[in-house]
Amino acid sequence: MSDLIHYRLEEGLALIGLDRAPVNALDQTLRAALSDACERAAADPRVLAIILHGERELFSAGSDIKEFGTDASFAEPDLPSTLTRLAAIHKPVIAALGKVALGGGLELALACGYRIGEPNLRVGLSEINLGLLPGAGGTQRLPRLIGVESALNLILSGKIIGAENARLLGLLDRIAPSAERLLDEAREYAYELIACRAPARPVEAWPEPGEGLPDDFLARYRAEHEPTWKSRLAPRLVLLALEAACLLPLDEGLLKELALFRQAESSRQSKALRHVFFAEREAARIPGVCADLPLRKIMRVAVIGAGTMGGEIAMSFANAGIPVALLESDGQALDRGLTQIRGNYESSVRCGRLRPEQVQSRMDLIFGTLDYADLSEADLVIAAVFGTPEVRQQVFRTLDKVCKPGAILATNISSLDLDAIAATVTRPHDVVGLHFFSPASAMRLVEVVRGEVTAPDVLATVLDTARRIGKLPVISGVGSGFIGNRMFEPYAREANRLVLEGATPAQVDRVLTELGLNMGVFSMLDLAGIDMGFLACDSNRAGISHDASYCRLGEELHAMGRYGQKTGRGFYLHEGRNRKDDAEVIALAERLAGELEIPRDPMDDQEILERCLFTLINEGIQLLDEGIALRAGDIDLVWINGYGFPAHLGGPMHYAEQLGLGNLLVGLQRYRQTLGEYGETWFKPAPLLERLVAAGRKRIERF
Ligand code: 3HC
Repeated sequence: MSDLIHYRLEEGLALIGLDRAPVNALDQTLRAALSDACERAAADPRVLAIILHGERELFSAGSDIKEFGTDASFAEPDLPSTLTRLAAIHKPVIAALGKVALGGGLELALACGYRIGEPNLRVGLSEINLGLLPGAGGTQRLPRLIGVESALNLILSGKIIGAENARLLGLLDRIAPSAERLLDEAREYAYELIACRAPARPVEAWPEPGEGLPDDFLARYRAEHEPTWKSRLAPRLVLLALEAACLLPLDEGLLKELALFRQAESSRQSKALRHVFFAEREAARIPGVCADLPLRKIMRVAVIGAGTMGGEIAMSFANAGIPVALLESDGQALDRGLTQIRGNYESSVRCGRLRPEQVQSRMDLIFGTLDYADLSEADLVIAAVFGTPEVRQQVFRTLDKVCKPGAILATNISSLDLDAIAATVTRPHDVVGLHFFSPASAMRLVEVVRGEVTAPDVLATVLDTARRIGKLPVISGVGSGFIGNRMFEPYAREANRLVLEGATPAQVDRVLTELGLNMGVFSMLDLAGIDMGFLACDSNRAGISHDASYCRLGEELHAMGRYGQKTGRGFYLHEGRNRKDDAEVIALAERLAGELEIPRDPMDDQEILERCLFTLINEGIQLLDEGIALRAGDIDLVWINGYGFPAHLGGPMHYAEQLGLGNLLVGLQRYRQTLGEYGETWFKPAPLLERLVAAGRKRIERF
């Protein structure tokens, strides 16, 4: 028998333990070993009941995602048929679920007649996050077990739930008192079942889940939810699979599910989302920093600056149970900051995201102070202070005096030179950049900026800490705008230029949101505030060369007091939640185009899309070449998690690879020629792109 399975015979029981590190992913070798073990237990007359479990705590994270898109995914025995054979065993089979049962791991448990879990178990059908649907019986067995609506909600959300919720839904029969007792409880359960001659109880014989459901249930469900799916394929396939569960006998439903699963697996969207899955794991690896480097302990944090950003950063730590000192320079600003934080928590209570008693428990973790001496015990200090470079450097000189040795000193800068700050302290190795995105308590992305001399253990520690508070950290080198804002610059420039050439803000944004972006450029600028955009744009000018027309539209709007959503006017006219193009802005664009001698014409949607994306991607490739980003995947994560680029397109770099690097190069060259002097300056292909295409490479990587 394979060493991926531990098979033990114990007084009437067969214990089958999955042992494929790190997460018991069900690849072909594990499926084969599992099939053999199940057959052996089914055929052995001494075996009266079977327990399936994870040999090392964790049950299974489902199919091996690396196999998708390769022949191994189809290799015999495939997961669906393995589970059909398991469900046909005429003996009680108990799944003892430790830690995690996700995707195919949960489907494996669903093919067993009985399920027991440990108290900290997390279960879910997370295939949707990979652009897939459950493909090993999940869409057919789950609705039979817990009902169509609950099954749909679980499958379409990809939500991971805890043991108690799983028990309430009917997914678990029992919960063991602790993880340590899981296997013993499973044994006891098995002996009870044997004693009462319990049946095998697979859901196979259960009635079709459509019985008793209103005829138009799925049609109404689709009508209600489809608008939120935008162009995503997988939710639509899930609904077809659930329809099959309601209308067809189980064996036919399983065949239909498999066909739909193969369709999803071969889609570009799933390929893109699988790329994102692995990019997220890859982002944790920093060249030159070993994985087992001892980390510094982060038990207490301090944030300097109780403005919107500082307050939100403090909330992110309090939300994860980490105490934070929040420092301000004057009492009124501190009170305002703390009141704002409480207000944010109270509004979370009103939306049902927080229980009322949690407001005070979180506030208790945030300690307001006016005295730097109160930061002396902090393990990590994050300065979120606006002001001149001199002001920030002064803050760090003070921190240098008051903070204990080994404390990590971080700055939440968006474009300032980290190395200049590090040079002002006696411990430059402890200085790092932590660029949170607004609103920091909700946004997942944090750019971790590595200074010239930032110590490896400082980097490893902040990466770990960011993950502890539920963020996705991505490493960036020092450079104006880091990864995200550096790329936003040419993207926004192009959008502005397109409006001068004849597009309208609403047209540009529509083209981008039709691609799947959460928001178009102008909605984003109006939301952030043109005054903020203008200030950032102003400070970026030192670092990034710019076209004479760049910012003209924003500058004029700023001068007119049109700051965006907050003033009701910006690039758009805002009326309540609605926004529309404003004749005043169109007239302004016409005037500026005249002054700048830019010809105006009605603009084609395809040109808008290409010009915005090509310049965005080109800048990404350039900053990869410069070493600001470590990997193309890191750039994708920044744009998906910080700027609303659709995950099912895999991020701008993956999108470019799908488009074909050669096509991208040809496109850039075309605009370079057709747009005259402007094109000559702004559509110059990144040298790395030219090298990649010349070498026939398909992937974007440093080369
Ligand atoms: N297949 C292949 N590798 C997997 C995997 C999977 N299903 N799940 C995790 N891994 C790998 C990761 O890539 C990582 O590898 P690395 O160390 O080389 O980077 C390693 O296992 C550890 O994973 P994490 O770093 O994510 O560890 P965590 O402890 O933070 O999280 C987890 C563990 C909760 C299991 C998380 O990895 C996870 O959510 N995995 C994906 C689960 C999932 O989506 N399953 C559905 C698969 S599709 C399916 O089953 C189809 C079926 O319906 C037919």
